[in-house]
Amino acid sequence: MARIVAGIATSHVPAIGAAIDQGKTDEPYWQPLFRGFEKSRQWIAALQPDLAIVVYNDHATAFSLEVIPTFALGCAAEFAPADEGWGRRKVPIVYGHPELAWHMAQSLILDEFDLTIVNRMEVDHGLTVPLSLLFGQPQRWPCPVIPVCVNVVQYPPPTGNRCLQLGRAIRKAVGSFDRDLRVVIFGTGGMSHQLQAERAGLINPEFDRRFLDALVHDPRGAAAIPHIEYLREAGSEGIELVMWLVMRGALDDRVTEIHRHYHVPASNTAVGHLVLENAASQPPSVGHGHRN
Ligand code: DHB
Ligand code: FE
Repeated sequence: MARIVAGIATSHVPAIGAAIDQGKTDEPYWQPLFRGFEKSRQWIAALQPDLAIVVYNDHATAFSLEVIPTFALGCAAEFAPADEGWGRRKVPIVYGHPELAWHMAQSLILDEFDLTIVNRMEVDHGLTVPLSLLFGQPQRWPCPVIPVCVNVVQYPPPTGNRCLQLGRAIRKAVGSFDRDLRVVIFGTGGMSHQLQAERAGLINPEFDRRFLDALVHDPRGAAAIPHIEYLREAGSEGIELVMWLVMRGALDDRVTEIHRHYHVPASNTAVGHLVLENAASQPPSVGHGHRN
């Protein structure tokens, strides 16, 4: 059976992708940010997942304001990196996994999540920057990727609770796929940031740290945060954080925090990052249960 073994949360700031592509990761501005991902890169290289589900938002790239799916599932065999105005990022094409994606479509829709099925789609920085952060600059991405898009661009986005429940349904869908696949799930976007209007540049480390703690230890509490609180505390684009709840919902209630990184600023944004493992995925620790 396929199963989800770990979750990764990370911001997907486009300037991070540009810094990687332009060889700037060792510059003083960027070095502290990228240092915080080194452990994660080693961790995922050792884990060698068979597949990644990447929960991200399309930034009016594949979907214009003419069609705005609340949740969309990428069922195609491949997804080309999009040209977002500066040419396509020179990153490998993203190969999908139509077999599992169609299985997920069936399981999720029959579970009453009315996802939009996408058979052709280009993927923007929301998906490719997290892959670069975790996998570096390979000739080919090390595993297939199933994109899950969430609308956080046009009001109303889905609630945090709906996102958590979607994560749970994704976990069930993956768990009923009859192939031995070790799957990781990414939740991307965030943390506090506002790119527009009077409060452009807003960053709120107190809110971000509270959110990181709640996401790990109190996912139901994190899922209860209303849209207005994200808007007020984390800025208009801070609403991207609901996508981290999809990732969290796909994991066990109790998880092991393998790594955390928080850095300000990247572009106009606070960058947050978590690596979480399901407890059952870890080898039992020596001496466990023998406290005398
Ligand atoms: C920016 C864009 C994003 O989509 C995001 O999540 C963070 C920052 C930006 O344009 O700086
Ligand atoms: Fe974004």
